[in-house]
Amino acid sequence: MDFSLSEEHLMIQEAARDFAQNELLPGVIERDDEQRFPTEQIKKMGELGFMGMMVDPKYNGSGMDTMSYVIAMEELSKVDASASVVVSVNNSLVCYGLETYGTEEQKEKYLKRLASGEIIGAFCLSEPEAGSDATSQKTTAIDKGDHYIINGTKNWITNGNSAEVYLVIAQTDKEKGHKGINALIVEKGAEGFEIGPKENKLGIRGSDTHSLIFNDVKVPKENRIGEDGFGFKFAMKTLSGGRIGIAAQALGIAAGAYELALKYSKERKAFGTEISNHQAIAFKLADMHTQIQAARHLVYKAAWDKDQDNNYDLSGAMAKLYASQVAMETTVEAVQIHGGNGFVKDYHVERLMRDAKITQIYEGTSEIQKIVISRSVLKD
Ligand code: CAA
Ligand code: FAD
Repeated sequence: MDFSLSEEHLMIQEAARDFAQNELLPGVIERDDEQRFPTEQIKKMGELGFMGMMVDPKYNGSGMDTMSYVIAMEELSKVDASASVVVSVNNSLVCYGLETYGTEEQKEKYLKRLASGEIIGAFCLSEPEAGSDATSQKTTAIDKGDHYIINGTKNWITNGNSAEVYLVIAQTDKEKGHKGINALIVEKGAEGFEIGPKENKLGIRGSDTHSLIFNDVKVPKENRIGEDGFGFKFAMKTLSGGRIGIAAQALGIAAGAYELALKYSKERKAFGTEISNHQAIAFKLADMHTQIQAARHLVYKAAWDKDQDNNYDLSGAMAKLYASQVAMETTVEAVQIHGGNGFVKDYHVERLMRDAKITQIYEGTSEIQKIVISRSVLKD
């Protein structure tokens, strides 16, 4: 067993860290305030190979492993979780889903542009009445021979307006339950496809989250991913990997807040000494450091499982459950260590605290992760 990172992983870590400091940090407070999408930053990340990190170079990807991806996600998320969720959705849901289950034509037509960052994608599973209960899809994709007709509403879609390509999960045959669900590729601008208003969110405010409305949207059959009825399994299998990316995001938010708190505690003086000399503060730092390291081990293990072709449903769910809890607890303590300064925007930790919350909700809430984990444990 080797706990050290390889030369290549260290290089990726440094590249992501430099990018976060030089390109994401400037303007991060303003983008959050104004709910402004990081358009330029995402374009640059595409040029640097961050938008299709695990995709085969023959489809314009960087051909890296999942470990590289989680290392990069951690560094980007330390500074800007709004930008890192765009990276996460594009890499681990959209590109992974298309590369693993798409046809050669779909990969040529869509994956190449998505992996290079020329365009970004969205993953559309959630609906007003089908969030955690994802098999209760109300959006329909009726089979019309050589095409499908989609009707319904998706909500909470990340990259809802900025995407060009949408992977849409919809019910074709209600009688067949989850076996009657399909995943279809829909292009922006398709007739009858409307983008709803942007959500005004607590955190990750720089990312754009929208409802999507489908009114008789015609999608050719060649845009179906996998066999007829594979759509729900497609969503579940893709989300198993996506959850590793969100776990890495949560880890990064926690680590970013911890690093700021550590630095501040050595600078700020109270009662004639740096606050880090007060044991109450030093013990908070000890707890934060320990929890973050434990979360990192879970995230790396899940990434390693995926790279080894082991089953990663369980390790990914455990990593997401734990890292998101650590993100919440650590960011709250980071604000506390900053005192009044923690409560204002200039010191970044209040934003990280707001951003942390979403990691317990999206790509399966913490309660859903516990369902996945407990089912696996009980089966064993
Ligand atoms: N891989 C492959 N197949 C899977 C699977 C997996 N990880 N998980 C479930 N399945 C299969 C099951 O085997 C079953 O198929 P069979 O009947 O052929 O055996 C089928 O899917 C249905 O599974 P369940 O009976 O377990 O279904 P359920 O109704 O009990 O729900 C659930 C399971 C795990 C709770 C699921 O509904 C779920 O994950 N819900 C959460 C939804 C979610 O994560 N949404 C995220 C949206 S995307 C997003 O959020 C992106 C973002 O923010 C950035
Ligand atoms: P509900 O399912 O209504 O859950 C409400 C509460 O009940 C939660 O605490 C939940 O854990 C609990 N609960 C539900 N069922 C059970 C149960 N069986 N046992 C125990 N507790 C249970 N979705 C996409 O498809 N694509 C995206 O890109 C995307 N991006 C998102 C971005 C943001 C900012 C947000 C807020 C959401 C996003 N989502 C996206 C949706 C997200 O995945 C859902 O919000 C999430 O899956 C929960 O669904 P829900 O909101 O309907 O909550």
